[in-house]
Amino acid sequence: MTITIVGHGYVGLVTACVFADFGNQVNVIGHTQEKINRLNSGDPIIYEPGLKELLQKNLSAKRINFTLDFEKPISESDIVFITVGTPPKINGEADLSAVITVAHEIAKSLKKGFTVVSCKSTVPLGTNKKIEEIINKNKSAGTEFAVASCPEFLREGTALKDTLLPDRIIIGSESDKAKEVLINLHKPIGGKRVITNLASAELIKYASNSILATKISFANLISFYCEKTGGDVETVLDGVGLDHRTGRNFLFPGLGYGGSCFPKDVKALLAIGNNLGVDTSLLKAVEEINKQAKENMIEKIIKFSPGKNIAVWGLSFKPDTDDIREAPALYIINLLIKKGFGIKAFDPVAMENVKKSFKGNINFVNDQYEAVKDSDALFIATEWNEFKQIDLNKVKSLLKSPVIFDGRNIYEPITMKELGFKYYSVGRI
Ligand code: UGA
Repeated sequence: MTITIVGHGYVGLVTACVFADFGNQVNVIGHTQEKINRLNSGDPIIYEPGLKELLQKNLSAKRINFTLDFEKPISESDIVFITVGTPPKINGEADLSAVITVAHEIAKSLKKGFTVVSCKSTVPLGTNKKIEEIINKNKSAGTEFAVASCPEFLREGTALKDTLLPDRIIIGSESDKAKEVLINLHKPIGGKRVITNLASAELIKYASNSILATKISFANLISFYCEKTGGDVETVLDGVGLDHRTGRNFLFPGLGYGGSCFPKDVKALLAIGNNLGVDTSLLKAVEEINKQAKENMIEKIIKFSPGKNIAVWGLSFKPDTDDIREAPALYIINLLIKKGFGIKAFDPVAMENVKKSFKGNINFVNDQYEAVKDSDALFIATEWNEFKQIDLNKVKSLLKSPVIFDGRNIYEPITMKELGFKYYSVGRI
């Protein structure tokens, strides 16, 4: 099949490489010449394990190409995926301007015959109908199309694995023909299928991200109880998670959820609920606890740090990504700087992105040990693997005082005590 993907963020680029790898011809449309050149030369722009190799393999096989042009790729395609960003507006609603512009462009260029237009961007309920209206109004005679919602569930850091072996593929459309095209396209991919209508598919995406965010906030809420009672949150959640109805996944407390998805999608579902007159108090509490998780760590650092020079390990919103959008580390660093703290930071891949966009003054260093050298305390903000079995005796000898604030519970309190650290983690005394 010939496929066009509009947008080359995490979803667009990963989807493009995977479908190209199955032998499809894939065009990817972007809007910056510099990025298009980099992508065509084999540089994926974003950091995602395994992506560079897959991109380069499919560029060499001439199955994927990147362009600024809409007309030619769309006029040759059986399927057009929309994967552009839908960032939150100030009121929490998703900003759909990029999706709407793309719908107009698609309308102008559809081929004669049938095209499926499928939105993989996370969009509020009813957006696919809006896309359909725009294309219907602006398309040329003789072109036929149907819209479908095909939400994406990949996680940054494991995006390729998640795309190839997902739990489920959701296909929502009012058109049987579109459903059939998408069922065929996804044949090489694992996972169960849910074939449904547009509204259900759109809601499945928001509900999926919101329930995971709710689990994370629930884990953080239990950590607050543990800190007040002497319970150990990891043991409590092990006990809870062994019930197969609940499971332990996404019940890891810490600094709250960040990234480009959960914060935005919980906000958007809240805004949608408010517009529909649905009670949104559960989602409001999820957001509030998420903020509280970060505030608690800031309070601990202010109260227990022996000095104001803090080493920070990890800046990305989670490990294995250079994505710093809504990263808890940056929220906390920003507030600490305002309180007069000096920050020396190390992250294995995200420092360049922080240098480009973070306003405050951070001293970036090249490795973990350099960060702790002569710092008053260490704050672990992201649980990169390389921090987990580090030489803690060396860390202790380099720090001015043996104090660690661990926002991700990567060490055992008992071990840290034996090593002579003052160790402040989340929900564990
Ligand atoms: C999330 C979903 O997991 C994907 O299924 C979805 O496709 C994606 O959003 C999206 O909508 O595009 P992602 O944001 O890449 O994926 O990352 P997650 O692994 O879900 O983590 C999100 C945040 O929650 C991170 O800040 C992470 O540190 C935090 N988290 C996660 C916790 O604090 N505790 C946990 O137990 C799990």
